[in-house]
Amino acid sequence: MQKLTEKLKEEINSRGFVRAVQSGRFDRTVKKRTFTPAIHKKAPAIACETFMPDGKALHSFTDPGSFADELIGGSGDYRQTDIFCEGFSATLLRSPKGGVHIKYGPGAPAARPADAPKNYILESGKKYDFLVMLGIQDANGRVHDKKQSKFRQINRFLQIVEDTVPALPGGDLTVWDLCCGKSYLSFAVYHYFRYVRGQNVSVYCVDRKADVIAECAGYAQALGWDGMHFICGDIFKCLPDVRPDMVLSLHACDIATDIVLSEAVKNGAKVILSSPCCQHELASQIDDKSLYYVTREPILKQKLSAVLTDALRCRLLCACGYKVTTLEFIDPEDTPKNLMIRAEKALLPKALRQAALEEYDGICQSLHADPTMRRLLDDFLTKTR
Ligand SMILES: C[S@@+](CC[C@H](N)C(=O)[O-])C[C@H]1O[C@@H](n2cnc3c(N)ncnc32)[C@H](O)[C@@H]1O
Repeated sequence: MQKLTEKLKEEINSRGFVRAVQSGRFDRTVKKRTFTPAIHKKAPAIACETFMPDGKALHSFTDPGSFADELIGGSGDYRQTDIFCEGFSATLLRSPKGGVHIKYGPGAPAARPADAPKNYILESGKKYDFLVMLGIQDANGRVHDKKQSKFRQINRFLQIVEDTVPALPGGDLTVWDLCCGKSYLSFAVYHYFRYVRGQNVSVYCVDRKADVIAECAGYAQALGWDGMHFICGDIFKCLPDVRPDMVLSLHACDIATDIVLSEAVKNGAKVILSSPCCQHELASQIDDKSLYYVTREPILKQKLSAVLTDALRCRLLCACGYKVTTLEFIDPEDTPKNLMIRAEKALLPKALRQAALEEYDGICQSLHADPTMRRLLDDFLTKTR
């Protein structure tokens, strides 16, 4: 323990400390604590996030000079303390009776500087092998002119992913990217969790285009990213056999988004990030006289249907126990398909979920709509009622 404390102090002094996580508190008063280097009041600090059993997170800062003693000294309350530094990583396991086991591992990649601008998870000008392979950067790390908006989109997406980290497990992580296409996001997400945060991550990418899946699998193999898995198939029939912590889907067409969302819910995903696309289903169903002044114009009907589709998806996710937010994903000038639904599993009271469902069913009734997502989640909603 003394050796571990000294090694950690050295890393903190040389700015090699990346991250630490404490989990499995014996008295269950805290779910998890994470520690990362930060700048607080213009001075180096260690930021601490404490996740409580009721889902709340408390934030505080610690002096780097006393952090190693505090972390190791307080480790007796936790079953597991994981430490990631540039020079080494270590897992400290404690038993309730005071047993101690320390396992050392290789160093973790450097942390993003704590004072770096938030939107620079992928720095422009820095070469990333996966971006070169995906044709976004050239061999010198310059973003191709035609790929500037894609680069911004990936960076913005990673920001959104970063914001969901408190809702995810701090250890091993499983991510699904459904309707992944060229899998830009999957590669970026793998890079972020594995190399920026130092977590073990498995990313499962599914798409029905065999050639695209084969190409992406080749890239992952060339990069040596063995935590990435590619599955060719229809997401209606063919899903990974490992449950996801996070489900992603960008621009899955029409009801493919409903399949994504309902499979994410049924498989217990803690975080869902979905950017819907071409919402046609409702446009062919809506029959509400009070909306005729809009629906009589085909273009307006299409736009209204798209908004209603996504609003209904959000309400249904709430009925399934998710806290939901919608975000502008990227500059509308880059793509008009820039809405992102962000859902995080939460301990929502039964009455709130029930009210959301009743509201949802009432709206569908007045629209004379029978959305796919509702049908796909019918059993789930009945069982969890
Ligand atoms: C517009 S692309 C988006 C690709 C990628 N997510 C992106 O944003 O770059 C839609 C993708 O969804 C895939 N897709 C649509 N329906 C699908 C289904 N039922 N099962 C599997 N893949 C599907 C298509 O093959 C296509 O690659």
